[in-house]
Amino acid sequence: MTLELGVNIDHIATLRQARGTIYPDLLQAMRLVEEAGAQAITIHLREDRRHIQDADVYAIRQHCQRRLNLELAATDEMVAIACDVSPSDACVVPEKREELTTEGGLDIIGLFDRVKKSTQTLKQAGIRVSLFIEPDIEQIKRVPDIGAPVIELHTGTYANAIGDDKKREFDRILKASEVADELGIQVNAGHGLDYENTQIIAAIPQIRELNIGHSMVSRAVFVGIKEATVEMLELLRKARI
Ligand code: PXP
Repeated sequence: MTLELGVNIDHIATLRQARGTIYPDLLQAMRLVEEAGAQAITIHLREDRRHIQDADVYAIRQHCQRRLNLELAATDEMVAIACDVSPSDACVVPEKREELTTEGGLDIIGLFDRVKKSTQTLKQAGIRVSLFIEPDIEQIKRVPDIGAPVIELHTGTYANAIGDDKKREFDRILKASEVADELGIQVNAGHGLDYENTQIIAAIPQIRELNIGHSMVSRAVFVGIKEATVEMLELLRKARI
């Protein structure tokens, strides 16, 4: 089974929002990611709109040539937007306004009714729903009752762990992947994955898709910056002719 890559382009928008400019152009970034062969584009419309804006979601939906995976909190506002936009996939995530990034998985036991309601509404709109949860067996066992066909295992704790803890966190992801797969749930994973810690996760056979953002946008600063510099130098040179 092939492992698919969803590239989270939120932080292209972070850079744009930092200066209130119209660049870097999200659609251009999306096209390059698509040309490079990624199977999905992932974006997170946060309640505070700190990076992706509502208009971005609609523009990306219009032009995206791959699967579009919209990450959203389980709120009425976000679910209504998702139903209107109609992406192929939606990943329900926990959200606290003050956090730097999504911290931890969704507690689908504690928030059972709310998550189930959001999931059912999204499903009725023809959207494939994924729940972003911890690699926790008790959480996974409740997924069939919620009715989501897909989970995304939160790999952030694994990514941040060091020494023996890293091995323990990896084992939790491995075990959770096996249990979810046995229950007939599609297993995706993501958060905090980078060029050093991804391959061991990618080797877990039950995992079907990885969603990666921050490390890839950071890497692009170096491997993609050369052409950007050449173009800018050329513009400066031409302005003095
Ligand atoms: N998956 C989910 C559900 C997320 O919320 C995020 C961050 O928006 C990612 C994957 C990507 O995480 P990172 O930017 O750390 O690669």
